[in-house]
Amino acid sequence: MNCSTTLRYNQAHRTLCNNSLGESTLALIHGGQRLRIAKQFNIDEGHWLDLSTGIAPYSYPIPEIPQRIYQELPQAQDNLNRAAQHYYNATNVLATHGSQTIIKLLPQLWCELFPASTRVYVPEQGYKEHALAWQSAGFSLRYYQEELPPLSDIEAHDVLVIINPNNPTGKLYQRSQLERYQSKMVAMNGLLVLDEAFMDVITPSQSMTTTISNYKHTIVLRSFGKFFGLAGIRIGFLLAQRYWINLIHEKLGPWQVNGPAQYIAEKALADKSWQQTQQSRLQQLSQQLNITLLDNLPSNGVINITGTALFQTVYFNNAIDVESYYVQLCQQAIYVRLTDDNKALRFGLAKPEQLERLAHALLSLNH
Ligand SMILES: Cc1ncc(COP(=O)(O)O)c(C=O)c1O
Repeated sequence: MNCSTTLRYNQAHRTLCNNSLGESTLALIHGGQRLRIAKQFNIDEGHWLDLSTGIAPYSYPIPEIPQRIYQELPQAQDNLNRAAQHYYNATNVLATHGSQTIIKLLPQLWCELFPASTRVYVPEQGYKEHALAWQSAGFSLRYYQEELPPLSDIEAHDVLVIINPNNPTGKLYQRSQLERYQSKMVAMNGLLVLDEAFMDVITPSQSMTTTISNYKHTIVLRSFGKFFGLAGIRIGFLLAQRYWINLIHEKLGPWQVNGPAQYIAEKALADKSWQQTQQSRLQQLSQQLNITLLDNLPSNGVINITGTALFQTVYFNNAIDVESYYVQLCQQAIYVRLTDDNKALRFGLAKPEQLERLAHALLSLNH
């Protein structure tokens, strides 16, 4: 069965599952679902300390937005494109309704381009929307652990998805290694998808945006909302050769990103001084979070703490019931992210004034 026949098969045979609230859903569980969790634990929404996402707790200040921006249909913005080209160090950029839009669209597009393509490598641990999108389009998933699949395993038209740095593991792949995969994808007529949602906080940057003008077989996704603390405005960027930009632009059609989001993003991407302040603030907050976790979690239970300057992930030994920790924190209205394998908790950054509350809750955890 090639990817297009499998797609039809999957669509016809999908079954709805019921979640714990009795809602029918095909959606994955993510962080950031505070209202849902507040209802589940029956604690007023306003009482929660939400550390369930990797979104910066300080946001780019919203500039005054001219009335006409709301009134007019959004137009292709040269200024936004220039600001994005500069910020991402890339020649070709496409603003989309969050990088999630591309994650969802890409498998069908690739399937149309190469109907014989069947395999996609995805990280075993990582933002699960990639795996879901490829699987729903009929691709068979090959999971890899932290080590990327051997180059020799990659065959014609294979797709390799790399989240760099990974969320939630924080694993960072170096450019030199990724360049070898780029060349392999050219040889195999395959596709390398680099999801750099958390790359903004990595220094020195390992971003591959500068290499893509030479490689039709690589696309890079950048999330705007995390570093700039504005996930709610829904804007993200595709960086790739012109071929991909045109193709995806055509598929998505007009008015993908609303005018106010474009206006805000343009200002934020160009504001070097705010970006520097944000960088040092996030580095500081992540160190403080790391110390709070180390000092207040039972030291014999923690194996490792990894992450980036936007989140810290704590891995526990097998003696710890991590799900019970998650529930105990929720019972104290502290919402963190339990990883899909139930083995780790990911903590988003807390503001300094919230750390004491977190420390207190961590100290009270019962094994
Ligand atoms: C690794 C990763 N990639 C992409 C996304 C999608 O982000 P957005 O659509 O806001 O750009 C997320 C969201 O959490 C993510 O964690």
